[in-house]
Amino acid sequence: MDAPVVDAVYLREIDKTRRDLRALISVKSCAPIMLRLAWHDAGTYDATRKTGGPNGSIKTKKELEHGANAGLDIAVRLCEEVKAKHPKITYADLYQLAGIVAVEVTGGPSIDFVPGRKDSLESDEEGRLPDARQGAQHLRDVFYRMGLSDKDIVALSGAHTLGKAHKERSGFESLPWTTDPLKFDNSYFVELMKKGESKGLLKLPTDKSLVEDPKFRPYVELYAKDEDAFFTDYAASHKKLSELGFTPP
Ligand code: HEM
Repeated sequence: MDAPVVDAVYLREIDKTRRDLRALISVKSCAPIMLRLAWHDAGTYDATRKTGGPNGSIKTKKELEHGANAGLDIAVRLCEEVKAKHPKITYADLYQLAGIVAVEVTGGPSIDFVPGRKDSLESDEEGRLPDARQGAQHLRDVFYRMGLSDKDIVALSGAHTLGKAHKERSGFESLPWTTDPLKFDNSYFVELMKKGESKGLLKLPTDKSLVEDPKFRPYVELYAKDEDAFFTDYAASHKKLSELGFTPP
């Protein structure tokens, strides 16, 4: 599909969309799943083949049915309420804006948003998102394919400060990573630095690999003790994620 024309009318619509997303996310307390939707739409990017990325294709039936996307039909449906009011805005822009607003309204950093992404009606291929049962090498394989770095991997993993696992979706115990899963802060890293398991909290094998890997660990240590450093790096990495394969008009 064609890229949207980003003129004054489109930009005004983006502002209104942002306001509606803020209200929706606050009323429904759905920041975690909105952030996950944005990430799963973007995280299919392949920098070599120039395919996938934040293109709205996660709304296709086939892609929504990918195992990794279990439960995200809820977020797609919630976004439809906003899309109906702002039909000009592409799904690709809408989902990325929803991810950014989710971080902001839960107390996280402001993330720069540049509109103009095209929609794709073609489902991205299955198997491009990370498998939480694996370790550091797998995370590198997946994120390097997107053109992202070790620092991006650790900073972006800090998104698990929000939300929880759902056994019926991912198979992992239905637990959050932090004691306040609707607040975006550095507590994910504080918990990771604690030895062993914390009762009632989740650590995925991939989360644990961040502390074990010698190149990832210094970032975990830094973010656990310096929330400002985490917020600065997170905002930069999230912007990159939201713009994979996208050249702003
Ligand atoms: C949830 C894996 C990176 C945001 C989850 C869940 C898994 C998972 C298994 C539980 C899903 C469920 O049962 O509902 C991974 C792996 C990653 C990764 C292996 C590799 C590093 C990210 C990134 C972001 C993110 C980069 C965003 C920037 C979230 C959020 C939730 C979540 C917000 C909570 C969703 C909810 O509460 O409904 N992730 N994730 N994850 N993930 Fe990740």
